[in-house]
Amino acid sequence: MKHQPLWIRHASQLVTLAGTSQAPVTGAGMNQLSFIENGSVWLEDGKIVHVGKDEELEAIFGSRRDEARIIDATGKLVTPGLIDPHTHLVHAGSRQNEFNMRLHGATYMEIMNNGGGIHATTSATRVATHDQLFAESKKRLDQFLLHGVTTVEAKSGYGMTLDVELKQLEVAKRLHEEHPVDIVSTFMGAHAVPREYRDHPDDFVELLIREMIPEVARRGLAVFNDVFCERGVFTPEQSRRILEAGKEYGLLPKIHADEIEPYEGAELAAEIGAVSADHLLRASEHGIERMAQSGVIAVLLPGTAFFLMAESANGRKMIDAGVAVAISTDCNPGSSPTVSMPLIMNLGCLKMGMTPAEVLTAATINAAHAIRCADRIGSIETGKQADITIFEVPDYMTLQYRYGVNHVHTVIKRGAVVVS
Ligand code: NIG
Ligand code: FE
Repeated sequence: MKHQPLWIRHASQLVTLAGTSQAPVTGAGMNQLSFIENGSVWLEDGKIVHVGKDEELEAIFGSRRDEARIIDATGKLVTPGLIDPHTHLVHAGSRQNEFNMRLHGATYMEIMNNGGGIHATTSATRVATHDQLFAESKKRLDQFLLHGVTTVEAKSGYGMTLDVELKQLEVAKRLHEEHPVDIVSTFMGAHAVPREYRDHPDDFVELLIREMIPEVARRGLAVFNDVFCERGVFTPEQSRRILEAGKEYGLLPKIHADEIEPYEGAELAAEIGAVSADHLLRASEHGIERMAQSGVIAVLLPGTAFFLMAESANGRKMIDAGVAVAISTDCNPGSSPTVSMPLIMNLGCLKMGMTPAEVLTAATINAAHAIRCADRIGSIETGKQADITIFEVPDYMTLQYRYGVNHVHTVIKRGAVVVS
């Protein structure tokens, strides 16, 4: 799409994350952010054309000044558009009643086993029309954008029948087409064992493998296939079968692993070559080592641990063990009803022992790697998509320090200003 060129100038700190597109960032690299002080970026035709010091861009583009829309970023932080690599964006209804129950001592799994939790949202999503689902999800996506997010991954999984799973994925596709925020879709039919299969769960696994996965793949509605591998939901063996079946149809494996109990989910992720293993609150040392060896990205969700009043995943230990870490909201109506990646970054610092530089790496380029988009997004480099967020703080340290406030000043998507 043709737009007026944009020239962002005088950024107090311009975090580029240059040179990180090829492979996820690991170890000490996560703390070594590339940035430019007094930086400028020239954006044109939806792409990043040039990044550098103010003087350098002045010399190259000064003669085209009148052509461009100029954004003065004096005193501001400029980063790649934030990326959320794990959401349950498309769903109907909300579960504040369960929040209240948990505050009175009920556990997440108890509520789910009594027909609430994921089952409650499944009932609401099953009866919602496409347009209702679109309208509810669009509101959330608008809020993501206002918090500086320019791409989200979105999972199905509140249908657990072919038709309703397809409805969710179609809504995600339409949002991707009509909304400034890009969406990368994941099929998660294996989100729970539906109530109607309670006494014969293996029949549901068969249905996923024989009917749902092939049809989702045939329609090209998802890039990834995800499973909730947890005691009382899908066993590691069932999870393996579902993820292997997805692979046969070209769906890349992801896994909700070791969230509530240790269940060797991290080990399974390494064994089957998952792109990411997500949650990992209770991952074993051995599982973490295996993930590091196999290059499985850890997508950590500190908002979920916070909201479930559980101990967070040990992000510090994972980074030190050589695992590439990304972070995400896990936006969903039960365990993390937030859209705020800045809050998640803050929790990454305060609850997972990560540094401000590490959480920014985790919310940009490593998040891009976790959804296999790092060739296009996640850093500010020549040739990449012009997705950029400008914050009303002078540097990335201050962004984490002044927590609980939305510091977003401007969001640019594919070279167009979409929030200002
Ligand atoms: O990632 N753990 C499973 N799935 C979601 C929660 C979904 C829900 O409660 O609606 C999660 O936390
Ligand atoms: Fe999740």
